[in-house]
Amino acid sequence: SARECTKYTHTIMSGQRLFCNERVVRTVHSAESEKNKFIPFDELISHRRQQAARSVLIQVQSEKSCSELYSYCSQFGHIEGMHHYTVHHNTHFVLIEFKKVSHVENILNKATHMNEEQIIPVEGSMFWFRTEKTRSKISVSKDVPLLIKNGCSIPTDKELTDLLLSAETMSDQMVTLYETTKLNDIGVRIRFQTAHQLERCFSGLFPHISVLPFGSSVNGFGKLGCDLDLVLRATNVNEENLNSRLVYHTKTIMSDERLQTKKFMETIADTMQHFVPGICNVRRILHARVPIIKYEQSFTGVECDLSITNLTAVYMSELLRLYSEVDWRVKPLVFTLRKWAECVGLTNSAPGRWITNFSLTLLVLFYLQFKQILPSLSTLKKLAVKRDTRVANSMVDCTFLRDLNRLPERTTNVTTLQELLHGFYEFYSQFDFHTKAVSIRDGTTISKPDYSALYICNPLEPMLNVSKNVSIEEVEKLKVNLREASWLLESTDNNNLLTILQPKKDLMTLVRGKRVVNVAVLFGEDSEDEKTNVANKQKTLSGSLNKDRARRRR
Ligand code: GTP
Ligand code: MG
Repeated sequence: SARECTKYTHTIMSGQRLFCNERVVRTVHSAESEKNKFIPFDELISHRRQQAARSVLIQVQSEKSCSELYSYCSQFGHIEGMHHYTVHHNTHFVLIEFKKVSHVENILNKATHMNEEQIIPVEGSMFWFRTEKTRSKISVSKDVPLLIKNGCSIPTDKELTDLLLSAETMSDQMVTLYETTKLNDIGVRIRFQTAHQLERCFSGLFPHISVLPFGSSVNGFGKLGCDLDLVLRATNVNEENLNSRLVYHTKTIMSDERLQTKKFMETIADTMQHFVPGICNVRRILHARVPIIKYEQSFTGVECDLSITNLTAVYMSELLRLYSEVDWRVKPLVFTLRKWAECVGLTNSAPGRWITNFSLTLLVLFYLQFKQILPSLSTLKKLAVKRDTRVANSMVDCTFLRDLNRLPERTTNVTTLQELLHGFYEFYSQFDFHTKAVSIRDGTTISKPDYSALYICNPLEPMLNVSKNVSIEEVEKLKVNLREASWLLESTDNNNLLTILQPKKDLMTLVRGKRVVNVAVLFGEDSEDEKTNVANKQKTLSGSLNKDRARRRR
């Protein structure tokens, strides 16, 4: 019911003990999904971009300055909301959303620079609120309506563990993990504000520029503190003007497209580094297949990867978001498996020969297609109508059903999250990675087209393998970890998700090819008891290990 739903949300938000069980969770989620009807991706992006254009970011001395700031800024226009957060725990910021873009312009017209001779006088929608020199006539209200405090704080490992321990079932733990670590409203706002800063900065040269977030910030699988992937598009004027007799004078694009891209990105990177406030640590990775500029926006505390033109990645994010919304179990399952992969060292934030979060997510989606919880991309393509047509980079067909409200049938599969998690490990433990490739497009496996260690077809460009980077050793490591997780879930009856979310070194180690189990951790013991109990526990354990080996042989 709606009441259960609200109570549930409050419980999660206040970090108190969770009361939910599988039935309640399911009720809550179906009530929520009824309440929050699916919003198509384009609408969502456009709404967030407009919100960013109506917002300003202001650094304040402390949380206490919020009421004064509210009173001061109210003179420029109607405030819709104030969102307070800190970067590195001690620098305070408030994101203020106004009702109209013109209110932001009012602020821009009244703001000033400090030490005019010593600074580059760039203007933008990011400010600091300095201490008052003379007593102002503005009355300060004690109450700050609509203020949301400390919106970006990430739960500590201890807080997360406590929350997980207080959930009743493993399925509840998975939902808790998702609810407490997912990217929240302020997290999304500051990411769109970060994108908006670049648009505003380059709009003088390119009035139709758009800087669009993609990846986990918008695909439904983002967690608090995730990086921000951006694509910059400097598009032409409106198509309506094509017959105009006045044609802009412009420079010609170089014949070498790669060189042109490199020069363009170098110039963008230099401008960002030298002129744009808050942007720091700019790194140019321009020789990669997809050239990117990495940077940090110190006012929003967000790590960014900026690329240009790459629209396919935006449509990929749209596709992933669509899948994340088809069934309420998708997001908690993906979050749990991403967390597990991080804990056991399968994924790493640095790029390398290991599986990425993106590839792992596609493996989960494929498994859910196998369980008939998610439709194949071919089905979504068949359901597409004319307005769903999209072609990226002049050749990649990214047409698929975009409005989930038009998806005719939802699954009848009622498997619990815990069962799905276990099922995922079992499915891929037995998967023939040697000869088979995963195809989200077909919803089935296909024969591997080449000798890559792991082959996951790019759903939008099926001739490409998104996991081409993964080495044979990493696939072996993946298989070992899948089997171990499957075994752990089978052999413990405590139903505790934390059993598989322990860092690998604490739980099991591989010594000269032989598995040595850290018994103390597995049985949740205190370290003092460790030595005395190891011998006894080792006996019990070798029994279960033998059983496990026999089962696997079968
Ligand atoms: P996290 O940043 O780890 O939270 O997840 P993410 O989904 O944002 O991954 P990442 O930042 O690595 O990549 C951003 C987006 O780029 C992904 O969501 C995909 O849409 C796209 N992407 C990443 N890797 C590949 C790849 O190998 N091939 C293709 N075609 N797209 C990719
Ligand atoms: Mg990302």
